[in-house]
Amino acid sequence: MSHASTLSARWATLVLLALLTLLSGCERPFMESVQHGYRGTGMVQIYNPRILEARQDNNIVPVSLPPAPAEGPKAALVFKNVKVLGDLSVPQFTRLMASISTWINPQEGCAYCHDVTNFADDGKYTKVVARRMLEMTRTINSQWKTHVAETGVTCFTCHRGNAIPQQVWFRSNPQPYGSNFIGDKAGQNSPEAVVDYTSLPNDPFTPFLLDKQEIRVNSATALPTGNRHSIKQAEWTYGLMTHASLALGVNCTYCHNTRSFQSWQGNPPQRAVAWYGIRMARALNNEYLEPLANVFPAHRKGELGDVAKANCATCHQGDYKPLNGAQMAKDFPELQLPADAAPSVAAK
Ligand code: HEC
Ligand code: HEC
Ligand code: HEC
Ligand code: HEC
Repeated sequence: MSHASTLSARWATLVLLALLTLLSGCERPFMESVQHGYRGTGMVQIYNPRILEARQDNNIVPVSLPPAPAEGPKAALVFKNVKVLGDLSVPQFTRLMASISTWINPQEGCAYCHDVTNFADDGKYTKVVARRMLEMTRTINSQWKTHVAETGVTCFTCHRGNAIPQQVWFRSNPQPYGSNFIGDKAGQNSPEAVVDYTSLPNDPFTPFLLDKQEIRVNSATALPTGNRHSIKQAEWTYGLMTHASLALGVNCTYCHNTRSFQSWQGNPPQRAVAWYGIRMARALNNEYLEPLANVFPAHRKGELGDVAKANCATCHQGDYKPLNGAQMAKDFPELQLPADAAPSVAAK
């Protein structure tokens, strides 16, 4: 081999090494791809085994206490100040109290919600919030089966041993015209984790998971009647979609086909489940969380004085089914609405 060709071979090796170093900085280890639709349609999910593995610890489901008999005197007769769980038997009631203690605050237990010298007292705000949370959880399990199916939820789905669920959202400052020199910023270019640090509006939740704005990128009609702020709306839409993908740990094609984001034809069934999920999250925020604003102390509230609210990540926490689809709720008939309960507006 001539001197020149040895040199160029060395250069080639160096360049190759440099390239490899560069590329390996992108994402490690090798991604796994799973075909999710007809061949040739590009319906592929890409998973990173390292991230999947790291999430496992977050998905350990606590062992349920043995079931309690439904027979015997009802809690409403035995206790003094029971407004929601009156239909339970005393053993069922006690089992639920013990379970929620470990789901919400295992360190403080009963005392996190109760004055333990008088369990009937409503002095602690946490008890007042918990009462509403019981009603909310029952509504989710009984009236939102279109989304949660038979898997359902318990307090643990969102709380996982934390008083404040790890994934919540607050309204962000909208920065409208006149508040800065750029114009209507709409939360853009202030990167937040919820939108994967993109320049998309960092609060796509207020318009869609609280208000009922249309989730659209372009108008469904020729005249701009229903879609007056289309660019802003499109950006909010992409913000929400980025959040949904991150919250479930999936790519866009988990719900959409690769031909058209708009079309409902040829989509995986998950898109319809997600459609109900959006309506459910909106209902939970409007009917249960926002009305608790006066109950929460100031230090629990956001910059604009609102309460912490739920989005897709509050339950999913990175997985396409919360807790990898563990059917924890079936062990807790106490968390279903009683058969004679009035239908809630949330179900419509
Ligand atoms: C996350 C909050 C929370 C925790 C933790 C909690 N409770 Fe409760 N407890 C409540 C709520 C809410 C009610 C009222 C339920 C209703 O109105 O239907 C209640 C009611 C009670 C009552 C009925 C009191 C009466 O006379 O009206 C008893 C007894 C009770 N809890 C015992 C316990 C025990 C024992 C523990 C610990 C093992 C515990 N609770 C942990 C929220 C909690
Ligand atoms: C859909 C998710 C979700 C479910 C299910 C859920 N919670 Fe919550 N919970 C929240 C959110 C969001 C907050 C507001 C966080 C905050 O600012 O404290 C909250 C707050 C609370 C608080 C106040 C904590 C504090 O320190 O301020 C208590 C107590 C509570 N929940 C109890 C319960 C109980 C008991 C259950 C089950 C019966 C339950 N939650 C089910 C989402 C949920
Ligand atoms: C978990 C399911 C899910 C994932 C993942 C998802 N979407 Fe969506 N997407 C939906 C649903 C449901 C709607 C319809 C919402 C409605 O009409 O209320 C929608 C609507 C849209 C629209 C509006 C279509 C129109 O009618 O104008 C666009 C654009 C869109 N998604 C893009 C994306 C992109 C880009 C991604 C990936 C970053 C993505 N979506 C990920 C479920 C999903
Ligand atoms: C109250 C908790 C909760 C919230 C909030 C929630 N989900 Fe879910 N979601 C669930 C549960 C539980 C399941 C599992 C249902 C089942 O086993 O079929 C599920 C299932 C799904 C599935 C079907 C997954 C599959 O592979 O079958 C999609 C898609 C989904 N959710 C999207 C969303 C989106 C998008 C949002 C936010 C707009 C959202 N979810 C908010 C609890 C929730």
